[in-house]
Amino acid sequence: MITCLTDFDLRPRNTFRIPSRARLWIEFDAADDIPAVAEKCNATTDPVLIIGAGSDILFTEEVFPGSVIHSSILTVEMETLPYHQVRITAGSGITMDELVERTCIAGLWGMENLSGIPGEVGASAVQNVGAYGCEASDLIESVYAYDILKRRFIVLYNDDCNFGYRYSVFKSPEARGRYIIASVTYILSTIPNLRLNYGNLSAMVGSSNPTPLEIRQAVIATRNAKLPDPAVTGSAGSYFTNPIVTPDQFAAVEAKARERLGADTAVPHFNLPDGRIKIPAAWLIDHAGLKGVREGGAGTWPTQPLVIANISGNCTARDVIKLEQRITDTVSDIFGIQLGLEVEKAPASLPLY
Ligand code: EPU
Repeated sequence: MITCLTDFDLRPRNTFRIPSRARLWIEFDAADDIPAVAEKCNATTDPVLIIGAGSDILFTEEVFPGSVIHSSILTVEMETLPYHQVRITAGSGITMDELVERTCIAGLWGMENLSGIPGEVGASAVQNVGAYGCEASDLIESVYAYDILKRRFIVLYNDDCNFGYRYSVFKSPEARGRYIIASVTYILSTIPNLRLNYGNLSAMVGSSNPTPLEIRQAVIATRNAKLPDPAVTGSAGSYFTNPIVTPDQFAAVEAKARERLGADTAVPHFNLPDGRIKIPAAWLIDHAGLKGVREGGAGTWPTQPLVIANISGNCTARDVIKLEQRITDTVSDIFGIQLGLEVEKAPASLPLY
Protein backbone atom coordinates (compact mmCIF):
# COMPACT_ATOMS: atom_id res chain seq x y z
CA MET A 1 0.00 0.00 0.00
CA ILE A 2 1.20 3.50 -0.82
CA THR A 3 0.27 6.43 1.43
CA CYS A 4 0.66 10.02 0.20
CA LEU A 5 0.25 12.94 2.62
CA THR A 6 0.71 16.64 1.85
CA ASP A 7 2.20 19.29 4.16
CA PHE A 8 3.62 16.51 6.35
CA ASP A 9 5.22 17.25 9.75
CA LEU A 10 8.85 16.03 9.66
CA ARG A 11 9.69 16.87 13.27
CA PRO A 12 8.81 13.39 14.60
CA ARG A 13 10.59 11.91 11.56
CA ASN A 14 14.08 13.25 12.35
CA THR A 15 15.97 12.30 15.51
CA PHE A 16 17.30 15.89 15.87
CA ARG A 17 13.63 16.89 16.35
CA ILE A 18 14.18 19.90 14.06
CA PRO A 19 10.92 21.48 12.92
CA SER A 20 10.30 21.09 9.18
CA ARG A 21 7.51 20.01 6.85
CA ALA A 22 7.49 18.05 3.59
CA ARG A 23 5.42 19.22 0.67
CA LEU A 24 4.65 15.53 0.04
CA TRP A 25 5.28 12.41 2.14
CA ILE A 26 5.15 9.06 0.32
CA GLU A 27 5.25 5.83 2.32
CA PHE A 28 5.03 2.24 1.05
CA ASP A 29 5.00 -1.13 2.80
CA ALA A 30 5.82 -3.65 0.05
CA ALA A 31 8.53 -4.02 -2.61
CA ASP A 32 5.78 -4.34 -5.24
CA ASP A 33 4.73 -0.73 -4.47
CA ILE A 34 8.15 0.69 -5.35
CA PRO A 35 7.76 0.96 -9.17
CA ALA A 36 4.64 3.12 -8.68
CA VAL A 37 6.46 5.27 -6.09
CA ALA A 38 9.36 5.64 -8.55
CA GLU A 39 6.97 6.81 -11.30
CA LYS A 40 5.83 9.60 -8.97
CA CYS A 41 9.51 10.61 -8.61
CA ASN A 42 10.13 10.45 -12.36
CA ALA A 43 7.04 12.59 -12.98
CA THR A 44 8.30 15.55 -10.92
CA THR A 45 11.23 17.94 -11.16
CA ASP A 46 10.92 18.73 -7.44
CA PRO A 47 13.63 17.33 -5.15
CA VAL A 48 13.11 13.78 -3.90
CA LEU A 49 14.56 12.58 -0.63
CA ILE A 50 14.53 8.94 0.50
CA ILE A 51 14.81 8.66 4.29
CA GLY A 52 14.91 5.99 6.97
CA ALA A 53 14.41 6.93 10.60
CA GLY A 54 15.84 10.41 9.95
CA SER A 55 18.73 9.67 12.31
CA ASP A 56 21.51 11.11 10.15
CA ILE A 57 19.71 14.06 8.64
CA LEU A 58 19.40 17.77 9.23
CA PHE A 59 16.37 19.41 7.63
CA THR A 60 17.73 22.84 6.75
CA GLU A 61 14.52 24.59 5.72
CA GLU A 62 11.07 25.15 7.17
CA VAL A 63 9.57 23.31 4.20
CA PHE A 64 11.34 20.57 2.27
CA PRO A 65 10.33 21.65 -1.24
CA GLY A 66 9.56 18.21 -2.68
CA SER A 67 8.75 14.59 -1.83
CA VAL A 68 10.11 12.64 1.11
CA ILE A 69 9.91 8.88 0.59
CA HIS A 70 9.90 6.33 3.39
CA SER A 71 9.82 2.53 3.37
CA SER A 72 7.81 0.69 5.97
CA ILE A 73 8.62 -2.78 4.63
CA LEU A 74 8.89 -4.82 7.82
CA THR A 75 9.37 -8.42 6.66
CA VAL A 76 12.15 -10.62 8.06
CA GLU A 77 13.13 -13.95 6.49
CA MET A 78 15.62 -16.38 7.92
CA GLU A 79 17.38 -19.23 6.09
CA THR A 80 19.77 -21.75 7.63
CA LEU A 81 22.93 -22.27 5.55
CA PRO A 82 25.80 -24.77 5.82
CA TYR A 83 28.88 -24.01 7.97
CA HIS A 84 26.92 -22.50 10.90
CA GLN A 85 25.69 -19.59 8.81
CA VAL A 86 22.24 -18.02 8.76
CA ARG A 87 20.97 -15.69 6.05
CA ILE A 88 18.65 -12.93 7.23
CA THR A 89 16.72 -10.81 4.73
CA ALA A 90 15.18 -7.76 6.39
CA GLY A 91 12.78 -5.17 4.97
CA SER A 92 14.30 -1.71 4.60
CA GLY A 93 11.81 -0.13 7.03
CA ILE A 94 12.65 -2.22 10.09
CA THR A 95 14.44 -0.39 12.88
CA MET A 96 18.03 -1.65 12.81
CA ASP A 97 18.13 -2.05 16.58
CA GLU A 98 14.95 -4.14 16.54
CA LEU A 99 16.62 -6.47 14.04
CA VAL A 100 19.79 -6.55 16.15
CA GLU A 101 17.75 -7.42 19.23
CA ARG A 102 15.83 -10.18 17.44
CA THR A 103 19.02 -11.79 16.12
CA CYS A 104 20.71 -11.56 19.55
CA ILE A 105 17.68 -13.16 21.23
CA ALA A 106 17.84 -15.93 18.60
CA GLY A 107 21.46 -16.53 19.71
CA LEU A 108 22.91 -15.42 16.36
CA TRP A 109 26.33 -13.74 16.18
CA GLY A 110 27.32 -10.75 14.07
CA MET A 111 25.05 -7.82 14.90
CA GLU A 112 25.58 -7.56 18.67
CA ASN A 113 28.19 -4.74 18.47
CA LEU A 114 25.74 -2.66 16.40
CA SER A 115 23.24 -2.54 19.29
CA GLY A 116 21.61 0.77 20.05
CA ILE A 117 22.42 2.46 16.73
CA PRO A 118 19.39 4.51 15.69
CA GLY A 119 18.13 4.13 12.13
CA GLU A 120 16.42 1.67 9.82
CA VAL A 121 17.79 -1.25 7.83
CA GLY A 122 17.80 0.43 4.37
CA ALA A 123 19.55 3.62 5.52
CA SER A 124 22.04 1.67 7.64
CA ALA A 125 23.29 -0.01 4.44
CA VAL A 126 23.52 3.36 2.64
CA GLN A 127 25.46 4.89 5.52
CA ASN A 128 27.37 1.68 6.38
CA VAL A 129 26.72 2.33 10.07
CA GLY A 130 29.30 1.10 12.53
CA ALA A 131 30.29 0.97 16.16
CA TYR A 132 32.67 -0.89 18.48
CA GLY A 133 34.80 -2.41 15.73
CA CYS A 134 31.93 -3.63 13.54
CA GLU A 135 30.32 -2.15 10.42
CA ALA A 136 27.08 -3.15 8.68
CA SER A 137 29.20 -4.05 5.62
CA ASP A 138 30.92 -6.84 7.60
CA LEU A 139 27.57 -8.64 7.58
CA ILE A 140 25.79 -7.53 4.40
CA GLU A 141 25.63 -10.12 1.62
CA SER A 142 23.48 -8.06 -0.77
CA VAL A 143 21.08 -5.15 -1.12
CA TYR A 144 17.85 -5.44 -3.15
CA ALA A 145 16.87 -2.07 -4.57
CA TYR A 146 14.82 -0.43 -7.31
CA ASP A 147 16.72 1.70 -9.82
CA ILE A 148 14.43 4.68 -10.45
CA LEU A 149 16.37 5.68 -13.59
CA LYS A 150 16.38 2.27 -15.29
CA ARG A 151 12.97 1.31 -13.88
CA ARG A 152 14.02 -2.14 -12.64
CA PHE A 153 14.95 -4.02 -9.46
CA ILE A 154 18.63 -4.86 -8.99
CA VAL A 155 20.66 -6.90 -6.53
CA LEU A 156 23.92 -5.33 -5.45
CA TYR A 157 26.31 -7.78 -3.81
CA ASN A 158 28.67 -6.63 -1.07
CA ASP A 159 31.52 -5.97 -3.54
CA ASP A 160 29.24 -3.90 -5.79
CA CYS A 161 28.30 -1.63 -2.87
CA ASN A 162 31.79 -0.09 -2.61
CA PHE A 163 31.47 0.09 1.17
CA GLY A 164 33.85 2.33 3.11
CA TYR A 165 33.87 4.25 6.38
CA ARG A 166 30.28 5.59 6.61
CA TYR A 167 30.16 5.23 2.83
CA SER A 168 28.54 3.10 0.13
CA VAL A 169 27.89 3.39 -3.59
CA PHE A 170 24.41 4.71 -2.66
CA LYS A 171 26.09 7.92 -1.42
CA SER A 172 28.00 8.59 -4.65
CA PRO A 173 26.82 11.67 -6.58
CA GLU A 174 25.50 9.49 -9.48
CA ALA A 175 23.52 7.22 -7.14
CA ARG A 176 22.06 9.81 -4.77
CA GLY A 177 18.27 9.50 -4.82
CA ARG A 178 18.43 6.91 -7.62
CA TYR A 179 17.85 3.69 -5.67
CA ILE A 180 14.98 2.80 -3.36
CA ILE A 181 16.12 -0.05 -1.12
CA ALA A 182 13.55 -2.79 -0.52
CA SER A 183 15.57 -5.18 1.65
CA VAL A 184 19.04 -5.99 2.90
CA THR A 185 20.44 -9.52 3.27
CA TYR A 186 22.93 -10.30 6.04
CA ILE A 187 24.98 -13.40 6.83
CA LEU A 188 25.16 -14.16 10.56
CA SER A 189 26.62 -17.09 12.43
CA THR A 190 25.48 -19.58 15.04
CA ILE A 191 29.03 -19.72 16.45
CA PRO A 192 30.77 -16.86 18.29
CA ASN A 193 33.14 -14.39 16.68
CA LEU A 194 33.81 -12.01 19.57
CA ARG A 195 34.92 -8.46 18.79
CA LEU A 196 35.60 -6.91 22.19
CA ASN A 197 38.82 -5.00 21.48
CA TYR A 198 37.21 -1.56 21.29
CA GLY A 199 37.71 0.67 24.34
CA ASN A 200 36.38 -0.79 27.58
CA LEU A 201 33.87 -3.13 25.91
CA SER A 202 35.60 -6.27 27.11
CA ALA A 203 35.53 -5.01 30.73
CA MET A 204 31.87 -4.07 30.35
CA VAL A 205 30.95 -7.60 29.20
CA GLY A 206 32.30 -9.15 32.36
CA SER A 207 31.88 -12.79 31.29
CA SER A 208 34.50 -14.90 29.49
CA ASN A 209 31.82 -16.83 27.64
CA PRO A 210 29.18 -14.21 26.82
CA THR A 211 26.02 -14.64 24.76
CA PRO A 212 25.17 -12.19 21.93
CA LEU A 213 22.51 -10.73 24.23
CA GLU A 214 25.09 -10.08 27.00
CA ILE A 215 27.34 -8.26 24.53
CA ARG A 216 24.33 -6.28 23.32
CA GLN A 217 23.61 -5.20 26.89
CA ALA A 218 27.26 -4.14 27.42
CA VAL A 219 27.28 -2.15 24.16
CA ILE A 220 24.04 -0.39 25.11
CA ALA A 221 25.41 0.44 28.58
CA THR A 222 28.62 1.84 26.99
CA ARG A 223 26.60 3.95 24.53
CA ASN A 224 24.25 5.19 27.26
CA ALA A 225 27.21 6.38 29.31
CA LYS A 226 28.48 8.58 26.46
CA LEU A 227 25.69 9.44 24.08
CA PRO A 228 22.44 11.35 24.62
CA ASP A 229 19.35 9.22 25.25
CA PRO A 230 17.35 9.64 22.02
CA ALA A 231 14.09 9.50 24.01
CA VAL A 232 15.16 12.61 25.97
CA THR A 233 17.55 14.66 23.82
CA GLY A 234 17.41 15.05 20.04
CA SER A 235 20.60 14.54 18.02
CA ALA A 236 21.79 12.80 14.90
CA GLY A 237 24.52 10.81 16.66
CA SER A 238 28.02 11.68 15.40
CA TYR A 239 27.64 14.93 13.48
CA PHE A 240 31.16 14.76 12.02
CA THR A 241 33.19 11.85 10.66
CA ASN A 242 36.62 11.00 12.02
CA PRO A 243 39.18 12.51 9.60
CA ILE A 244 41.38 10.07 7.66
CA VAL A 245 44.77 11.53 6.76
CA THR A 246 48.16 10.59 5.31
CA PRO A 247 51.12 10.04 7.72
CA ASP A 248 52.53 13.45 6.67
CA GLN A 249 49.24 15.18 7.45
CA PHE A 250 49.08 13.36 10.78
CA ALA A 251 52.61 14.59 11.65
CA ALA A 252 51.50 18.16 10.87
CA VAL A 253 48.40 17.81 13.11
CA GLU A 254 50.51 16.40 15.94
CA ALA A 255 53.03 19.26 15.59
CA LYS A 256 50.22 21.81 15.90
CA ALA A 257 48.77 19.91 18.87
CA ARG A 258 52.17 19.95 20.62
CA GLU A 259 52.55 23.67 19.97
CA ARG A 260 49.22 24.34 21.63
CA LEU A 261 48.93 21.64 24.29
CA GLY A 262 52.52 20.87 25.26
CA ALA A 263 55.50 18.97 23.84
CA ASP A 264 54.46 15.59 25.25
CA THR A 265 50.96 15.65 23.66
CA ALA A 266 50.10 12.45 21.80
CA VAL A 267 47.18 12.68 19.37
CA PRO A 268 45.14 9.45 19.61
CA HIS A 269 44.93 7.68 16.25
CA PHE A 270 44.20 4.43 14.52
CA ASN A 271 46.40 3.06 11.71
CA LEU A 272 44.31 1.82 8.79
CA PRO A 273 45.37 -1.17 6.63
CA ASP A 274 45.94 1.15 3.62
CA GLY A 275 48.61 3.17 5.52
CA ARG A 276 46.36 6.13 6.25
CA ILE A 277 45.54 7.29 9.78
CA LYS A 278 42.14 7.91 11.40
CA ILE A 279 42.01 10.66 14.04
CA PRO A 280 39.08 10.88 16.49
CA ALA A 281 37.22 14.11 15.68
CA ALA A 282 35.96 14.03 19.29
CA TRP A 283 39.54 14.54 20.50
CA LEU A 284 40.14 17.46 18.11
CA ILE A 285 36.86 19.15 19.13
CA ASP A 286 37.51 18.52 22.82
CA HIS A 287 41.09 19.88 22.64
CA ALA A 288 39.93 22.90 20.64
CA GLY A 289 37.93 23.81 23.76
CA LEU A 290 34.56 23.12 22.17
CA LYS A 291 33.13 20.52 24.54
CA GLY A 292 29.73 21.58 25.87
CA VAL A 293 29.66 24.85 23.87
CA ARG A 294 26.34 26.19 22.57
CA GLU A 295 24.85 28.19 19.74
CA GLY A 296 21.24 28.99 20.52
CA GLY A 297 19.51 25.73 21.43
CA ALA A 298 22.22 23.49 19.93
CA GLY A 299 25.28 22.29 21.82
CA THR A 300 28.08 19.73 21.69
CA TRP A 301 27.37 16.80 24.01
CA PRO A 302 29.46 17.03 27.19
CA THR A 303 30.65 13.40 27.19
CA GLN A 304 30.94 13.06 23.38
CA PRO A 305 31.52 16.36 21.57
CA LEU A 306 31.26 14.63 18.18
CA VAL A 307 27.53 14.79 18.78
CA ILE A 308 25.65 18.06 18.25
CA ALA A 309 22.48 17.83 20.33
CA ASN A 310 19.19 19.68 20.49
CA ILE A 311 19.93 20.76 24.07
CA SER A 312 17.03 23.18 24.50
CA GLY A 313 14.52 20.82 22.86
CA ASN A 314 13.57 23.52 20.38
CA CYS A 315 16.79 24.29 18.54
CA THR A 316 16.66 25.24 14.88
CA ALA A 317 18.67 24.13 11.87
CA ARG A 318 20.21 27.62 11.95
CA ASP A 319 21.57 26.96 15.49
CA VAL A 320 23.04 23.62 14.40
CA ILE A 321 24.70 25.03 11.29
CA LYS A 322 26.12 27.98 13.23
CA LEU A 323 27.65 25.56 15.73
CA GLU A 324 28.93 23.32 12.92
CA GLN A 325 30.65 26.29 11.29
CA ARG A 326 32.18 27.40 14.59
CA ILE A 327 33.53 23.89 15.19
CA THR A 328 34.90 23.33 11.67
CA ASP A 329 36.50 26.82 11.59
CA THR A 330 38.08 26.46 15.05
CA VAL A 331 39.40 22.92 14.46
CA SER A 332 40.79 24.02 11.08
CA ASP A 333 42.49 27.10 12.62
CA ILE A 334 44.02 25.15 15.50
CA PHE A 335 44.89 21.76 13.97
CA GLY A 336 44.89 22.57 10.24
CA ILE A 337 42.35 19.84 9.55
CA GLN A 338 38.98 20.12 7.84
CA LEU A 339 36.24 18.04 9.50
CA GLY A 340 33.81 16.21 7.22
CA LEU A 341 30.14 15.67 8.00
CA GLU A 342 28.44 12.39 8.79
CA VAL A 343 25.04 14.10 8.83
CA GLU A 344 23.32 14.80 5.49
CA LYS A 345 21.58 18.08 4.91
CA ALA A 346 18.23 18.24 3.16
CA PRO A 347 17.99 20.22 1.00
CA ALA A 348 21.75 19.95 0.54
CA SER A 349 22.22 23.56 -0.55
CA LEU A 350 23.40 25.12 2.67
CA PRO A 351 21.98 28.44 3.81
CA LEU A 352 24.99 30.34 5.23
CA TYR A 353 24.49 32.29 8.42
N1 EPU B 1 37.50 11.72 22.98
C1 EPU B 1 37.94 12.88 23.57
N2 EPU B 1 37.05 13.59 24.32
C2 EPU B 1 35.76 13.18 24.50
C3 EPU B 1 35.31 11.98 23.89
C4 EPU B 1 36.21 11.26 23.12
O1 EPU B 1 39.09 13.28 23.45
O2 EPU B 1 35.01 13.89 25.17
C5 EPU B 1 38.47 10.96 22.15
C6 EPU B 1 39.10 9.85 22.95
O3 EPU B 1 40.47 9.83 22.59
C7 EPU B 1 38.43 8.61 22.44
C8 EPU B 1 38.19 8.99 21.02
O4 EPU B 1 37.82 10.37 21.06
O5 EPU B 1 39.24 7.52 22.60
C9 EPU B 1 37.14 8.20 20.31
O6 EPU B 1 35.89 8.34 20.96
P1 EPU B 1 34.82 7.15 20.89
O7 EPU B 1 35.47 5.87 21.21
O8 EPU B 1 33.63 7.56 21.66
O9 EPU B 1 34.45 7.01 19.38
P2 EPU B 1 34.30 8.03 18.19
O10 EPU B 1 35.40 7.84 17.23
O11 EPU B 1 34.14 9.40 18.73
C10 EPU B 1 32.89 6.41 16.68
C11 EPU B 1 31.63 6.50 15.89
C12 EPU B 1 30.41 6.33 16.79
C13 EPU B 1 30.51 4.99 17.50
C14 EPU B 1 31.83 4.98 18.30
C15 EPU B 1 32.06 3.64 18.97
C16 EPU B 1 32.18 7.96 14.05
C17 EPU B 1 31.99 9.30 13.42
N3 EPU B 1 31.58 7.77 15.20
O12 EPU B 1 32.91 7.56 17.55
O13 EPU B 1 29.26 6.29 15.96
O14 EPU B 1 29.40 4.78 18.37
O15 EPU B 1 32.94 5.21 17.39
O16 EPU B 1 32.36 2.68 18.01
O17 EPU B 1 32.85 7.11 13.46
C18 EPU B 1 27.50 7.55 14.99
O18 EPU B 1 27.96 7.23 13.88
O19 EPU B 1 26.46 8.28 15.10
C19 EPU B 1 28.19 7.14 16.20
C20 EPU B 1 27.81 7.52 17.41
